[in-house]
Amino acid sequence: MKNIIVTGCNGQLGIAINKLLSQDPEYHLVNTDVAEPGFVKVDKLLDITKVEDVLDFAREVKPYAIINCAAYTAVDAAQTHLDLNYKINAIGPRNLAIAATDQKAKLVHISTDYVFPGDSEKPLTEFDVTGPKSVYGITKLAGENFVKDFADRYFIIRTAWLYGEGKNFVKTMLKLSETHDRLTVVDDQFGSPTSTIELAKAINYLLPTDNYGLFHGTCEGSTIWADFAAEIMKKAGKSTEIVPVSTEEYYKNNSASAPRPHYSILDNYMFRLTTDHMYADWHDALDVYMKTFGYAK
Ligand SMILES: NC(=O)c1ccc[n+]([C@@H]2O[C@H](COP(=O)([O-])OP(=O)(O)OC[C@H]3O[C@@H](n4cnc5c(N)ncnc54)[C@H](OP(=O)(O)O)[C@@H]3O)[C@@H](O)[C@H]2O)c1
Repeated sequence: MKNIIVTGCNGQLGIAINKLLSQDPEYHLVNTDVAEPGFVKVDKLLDITKVEDVLDFAREVKPYAIINCAAYTAVDAAQTHLDLNYKINAIGPRNLAIAATDQKAKLVHISTDYVFPGDSEKPLTEFDVTGPKSVYGITKLAGENFVKDFADRYFIIRTAWLYGEGKNFVKTMLKLSETHDRLTVVDDQFGSPTSTIELAKAINYLLPTDNYGLFHGTCEGSTIWADFAAEIMKKAGKSTEIVPVSTEEYYKNNSASAPRPHYSILDNYMFRLTTDHMYADWHDALDVYMKTFGYAK
């Protein structure tokens, strides 16, 4: 049996990892988070920002791998919580990297399209130059760098527009559609909606391999938020009208404060170059998600 420490086990990705990897008789998941209760039973309360706690726990569990699903993900609130973001998104992964090396364990760490400035005109590969614009992006990039500095055997996967069980765009749109006939949604930001089910499959694929390094990991295809919202409504059989607006217009009427990347389509280049793993197209992944959770008509 291989012990796997999952941090942030009750976040969107933590739940998807639990659903998939707990089916594998070879793996024993040891679930940790900062609070309980949640969907997943927490085996141990673990704050990844505390290096001694992380090291002690890893020495007790002797993990084959650590999967870091913990993060500070509130992108707008992050703008006014710099220290907390550095702690959770940078020092946290550093601590896990130190513990993974101490235990000769593999480390899976998740990062984001926000490490890029968002002004590209072509899909971004792992070899493109970063340049985050927001506190969230800056601290997530610092986390990547700490993992590279301190872990021997790591997989860093940058994903984007993630949705699963928890707070996310799909659920927000469905909730708002219950009380609104029209919804204004941004039409000039480009990205690839990615289901946690698909991301968990990709992690499960990489985990037993020695194919270490930095990967982009998003569903195939791309869209804008307004078309993503329209697709959600269509699949849910809702008649709510989606009214496209520019980011500038949207920000005028909303309190969103972090700069959003205008263009953050990630090319899963390293997956293509080094594996035969294929991500599902975002339409198909959305279909599976909506049927799985009973949102589809
Ligand atoms: N969501 C997206 O659209 C998106 C896009 C690109 C990349 N990502 C990345 O994908 C990964 C997974 O995101 P997600 O959406 O699944 O995140 P999430 O739902 O926000 O879950 C994060 C989990 O981490 C926990 N946590 C917070 N601080 C912690 C600490 N100090 N120690 C241990 N656990 C802590 C949270 O607990 P509390 O809820 O109690 O704080 C929560 O259970 C993250 O690395 C994120 O940066 C997400």
